[in-house]
Amino acid sequence: MLNIVIFGGPGSGKGTQSEFIKKKYSLDHISTGDVLRAEIKKGSELGQMCSDIISKGQLIPDDLMIKILAKQFDSFENSNGVIFDGFPRTIAQATALNDILIERGTKVAGVVALEVEEQELIARLIKRGQISGRSDDNEETIAKRLHVYNNQTSPLIEFYKNEGLYKGIEGMGTMEEIFNRICVAIDSL
Ligand code: AP5
Ligand code: MG
Repeated sequence: MLNIVIFGGPGSGKGTQSEFIKKKYSLDHISTGDVLRAEIKKGSELGQMCSDIISKGQLIPDDLMIKILAKQFDSFENSNGVIFDGFPRTIAQATALNDILIERGTKVAGVVALEVEEQELIARLIKRGQISGRSDDNEETIAKRLHVYNNQTSPLIEFYKNEGLYKGIEGMGTMEEIFNRICVAIDSL
């Protein structure tokens, strides 16, 4: 299986690039943010629990997120591999992902990390906020998401560098330019 973590700050292009990658490499895609937003839309118990946390730009507790992730992963049949988008976001989640994959006889093949300047992230999310209706695409929550990313998620850069899996990608430019850089990185795995 070609399991790829797509990593980067809020608005770095994880969702956008995942769509291109999954088509080209015939992979499945898990976006934990999309899963949670779908639960909110359904009005499920999980959705009700997460709605406030997402609006505040905070993280869903690790143990809950890890269970959701494992369930999604196990729902794929005869998968060529999975793109993990928005997961892991903490060291605990990264360790759990390794365990989940090892238990299933596979592993993370590489971490495609979109490197984008903070000012560009803010500009992209504010622009999307004017049309998306996402409860977290407003100036105040964007600032909180960046804070959470810098404190809780960015330590994963060192974690994956130590595992020899980190592939830094220049994440500024057109979507096509960035996708071409990602393909070079994936083809080298
Ligand atoms: P999540 O949905 O994962 O949001 P995020 O990481 O903050 O990032 P986004 O989805 O906003 O951005 P993206 O990197 O996918 O970029 P996109 O392609 O959309 O998580 C939301 C919340 O859910 C979290 O805050 C947390 O509360 C919770 N959550 C989720 N996973 C969790 C976990 N594992 N643990 C705990 N809690 C969790 O692009 C952004 C915009 O930029 C778009 O408008 C796009 O069109 C545009 N764009 C893309 N590429 C370019 C480009 N090259 N040039 C110009 N514009 C571009
Ligand atoms: Mg996304």
